Amino acid sequence: MQGIVYYSKNGNTEILAELIAEKLGAKLIKLEETKKRRGIIGFIKSGYQAVNKKCSELIGTPWEEIKECDEIYLCTPVWAGSSTPAMNTFMEKADLKGKTVNIATVMADTKLEGAQRVHEYMKSVLNEKGAAVKNCIALSGTSPLKQGERQHIQAQFEKLV
Ligand SMILES: Cc1cc2nc3c(=O)[nH]c(=O)nc-3n(C[C@H](O)[C@H](O)[C@H](O)COP(=O)(O)O)c2cc1C
Repeated sequence: MQGIVYYSKNGNTEILAELIAEKLGAKLIKLEETKKRRGIIGFIKSGYQAVNKKCSELIGTPWEEIKECDEIYLCTPVWAGSSTPAMNTFMEKADLKGKTVNIATVMADTKLEGAQRVHEYMKSVLNEKGAAVKNCIALSGTSPLKQGERQHIQAQFEKLV
């Protein structure tokens, strides 16, 4: 069984996760934080937390939902050249031993600069936890604080598959 685990603040990564789930007929698992991130203060705080590899509190226990999955996709926006606090929490709490993991990142930069560094960081965490990382993909979304556009994500996704 395959599972698509994603965090998305403005919808770009959510669109990508939905497209992957539709394509594979996989289960969608959304990561939601207990605390909202609002305005410019929220933006600065988010960047600070991301760059320092912090975790955030999530609603429920989404890591329980991948128990039956042998392959998962982790989809996250890039924040301050890093993964997101929500995805960091998931990677920390989930039992990933023996699972095959794919990484998908979405960022504002259309040149996708820095995506590889995020993939390498996530790979090192995942390998530590006994997972085998298969594929890494990077897409461009919208600039920070703008809502995701389905067409933009879909066009890139179709080129990749
Ligand atoms: C706190 C914060 C930091 C960000 N840092 C970067 C960055 O370092 N590089 C980049 O290309 N985009 C950066 N972005 C932009 C997001 O990666 C981009 O808007 C992405 O499409 C958001 O995905 P979402 O709509 O699923 O939340 C940042 C956005 C936020 C909110």
